[in-house]
Amino acid sequence: MEATVRLRVDGTERVVVVDTRTTVLDALRERLGVMSPKKGCDHGQCGACTVLVDGRRVISCLTLAVAQDGADVTTAAGLADGEALHPVAQAFLDQDALQCGYCTPGQICSAVGMLDEVRRGWPSAVSGGEPGPLDAGEIRERMSGNLCRCGAYANIVRAIEQAAR
Ligand code: FES
Ligand code: FES
Repeated sequence: MEATVRLRVDGTERVVVVDTRTTVLDALRERLGVMSPKKGCDHGQCGACTVLVDGRRVISCLTLAVAQDGADVTTAAGLADGEALHPVAQAFLDQDALQCGYCTPGQICSAVGMLDEVRRGWPSAVSGGEPGPLDAGEIRERMSGNLCRCGAYANIVRAIEQAAR
């Protein structure tokens, strides 16, 4: 069974006819040629496919495209403001927070969504829900859904600390 799905992807209206079992990740990569989100595990375990859907971080390999009809999808590539990188992306560059870079678009989208969650007062298991500074332990916990096979975690945490400041 097929369905027509309308998505606003990085500011551009896109229309695609997909099998109703198609994920947002496959709709983006395989049907729309949007290659910023990466397919790591395709099972919701690595976070490489993370995008922002209506401002919230979403695992796009576990999200059906038909369920997001009309949504606003932002990938890491769409975070830039013209030639200016998003502050989180700039912090990843400044802190050398990557090696192969495969996980990086997902890490950046997840970090942007996570910092917004912090601003909204969403609790963390580390802080026990108490308001306080976003320390390294809390960053690790809040970013635990994004794996990095290169093990660049130390600099990823530093980059997010920089962006949070
Ligand atoms: Fe989606 Fe790994 S590809 S979580
Ligand atoms: Fe290679 Fe993270 S930089 S997987």
